[in-house]
Amino acid sequence: MARQREVDFSFWNEQWKQNYIEREQRIRSNPLIDYWDKRARDFSLMRKSNDYDFGRKVYAALSGVLHPDATMLDIGAGPGSFTVPFAQKIKFVTAVEPSKGMADVLRENVKEAGVENITVIEALLEDLPQDPSHDFQFDLVAISLVLWMFPDVWPRILQMERYAKGSCVIVAGIPDWKNPGVTGNTDVEEFQVLYNMLISQGRFPHVDIIDYKCERTVADEIACRELMYEQYEQDLTLEAEENIRREVVAGAKDGMCLIASRSAVIRWDPREVVLKD
Ligand SMILES: C[S@@+](CC[C@H](N)C(=O)[O-])C[C@H]1O[C@@H](n2cnc3c(N)ncnc32)[C@H](O)[C@@H]1O
Repeated sequence: MARQREVDFSFWNEQWKQNYIEREQRIRSNPLIDYWDKRARDFSLMRKSNDYDFGRKVYAALSGVLHPDATMLDIGAGPGSFTVPFAQKIKFVTAVEPSKGMADVLRENVKEAGVENITVIEALLEDLPQDPSHDFQFDLVAISLVLWMFPDVWPRILQMERYAKGSCVIVAGIPDWKNPGVTGNTDVEEFQVLYNMLISQGRFPHVDIIDYKCERTVADEIACRELMYEQYEQDLTLEAEENIRREVVAGAKDGMCLIASRSAVIRWDPREVVLKD
């Protein structure tokens, strides 16, 4: 039993590393923090659309384990996709965000929403305390669309668990197989790997699949696609600019682009880990 678990874990752990390497070979370069600084404005518009549709759908999936007195650690919080809608429902949110551009936009969004029960730590996940004190424990530890940037994911999951006195949650993107993006549609989906890794390590994850939508103006969509093109493919040429513009305009309606996405909300309680021999 223990041997089988080890074999399963090595398989999925290797799969994660393989996916990371394959993506790295396909793209121009992985995003560093300055890329997230540049994406802050457009990411914010996207996440705020439909009254924080994404964050509210994730909240709904987690409502069974949350209560008004709950505290949350939101790692890689971005523009406040979860921080804002969760702070409106629970006691306190601690947002961790290393990009100055994102952290500034997050503070603006918090102010705009009129919520005060939040704090922002401008740091990388790997720089958070490894041996946390009693004060650095949360009812919910969440990370959304961040783990894909780590070649070695398991140490980060264990780190999340050290901050949890309740549940942990990972929100992982599910690629659109009809329209693979430049960041890479991998054969084995991120959530499938993470789910199996957790199972092989005695966790009991629950998974909810959520669909959410956001809207952007044609100009914002073009600017975002140009940034992504430069990050993941190559320098922009006049031809590339024209192709992006044509594609965006063709998909727009009344000057707006509707973007439909799907994610897996993977939740488990680290206190329920069972590793029987
Ligand atoms: C795709 S965005 C996701 C934002 C938000 N969690 C969401 O789902 O809307 C990725 C975010 O992770 C942050 N990030 C990148 N590397 C990180 C790291 N090592 N530790 C913590 N956050 C990181 C980026 O600055 C960016 O805000």
